This record gives sequence, structure tokens and C-alpha cells, in this order.
Amino acid sequence: MSVESLITHARKAQTFSKSPYSNYAVGAALLTSEGEVIYGCNIESKAYPTTLCAERVAIFSAISQGHDDFSELAIITKDGAAPCGACRQIISEYCGNIPVHFANEAGESQTMMMDDLLPLAFRDPQ
Ligand code: THU
Repeated sequence: MSVESLITHARKAQTFSKSPYSNYAVGAALLTSEGEVIYGCNIESKAYPTTLCAERVAIFSAISQGHDDFSELAIITKDGAAPCGACRQIISEYCGNIPVHFANEAGESQTMMMDDLLPLAFRDPQ
């Protein structure tokens, strides 16, 4: 699948965002190694800290549907932000060193490998 198509899926996922408190809608589209696309969006709560980020919603949803091998992740926000630290840990842990595309709503995007987004990632406690 092309990067543009994966970002188009992320844009669709973004439309499902529940973000009335931040007004910052995030969409994520996770491509599985079988070619399936799993959506995630940020879901905020009246109890603010219980909010979940789009990236983690996509990954947890994919895992709970039986997927365990991922090849790419696209994220879209209004300003093209890179994933937060908590999401970097989960992407790194469950997806490995995949390319991560982060796009803005103007259609510009950047791609970084996960190991560059989270160098020296925490892995197995010894
Ligand atoms: N958010 C994400 O969905 N992903 C990130 O990587 C960073 C932040 C969400 C959480 C909250 O709903 C809103 O963006 C503002 O922080």
C-alpha cells in the first residue's frame, strides 16, 4: 500500500475522534503484515487522564483482533505532530522498527523509522 493511501485511511480514522476537550483530533492507520488496515483515533474522557491516544487505540485494537505483525503506521493531526512518548514505547514494543508516517491536514508528511523516534528503547527487564 502506498504511503498516501495509508495516510488517507488515517484521515478517515481521524473523523471518528472523540476530542471535545482538546479539540485536537488524531487519526492512526496501522498496516498489518497481511495487508489489513486497522484504525485508531484519540478518545477523550470527562476524567481527562483516562484519555487514549490514537496510536495506542489502533495497536491495542489490532492486537485484540488477533494481529501481531505490523509493517507501517500513519498518523494525522492538524499540525503533523510526531507521536507522544507513551505511544512511542508501545509502537516500539509491539511493532518494532517500522516506518512511522506523520502527516498534517495540509497534506504534508514526514517518515521516520521507529528506532530513530525512540532510540535505546526499553525492552525486556532483566
Ligand atoms: N494524542 C494522540 O492521540 N496521540 C499522540 O501521540 C499525542 C496526543 C491525543 C491525546 C489527546 O486526546 C489529544 O491528542 C491532545 O493531547
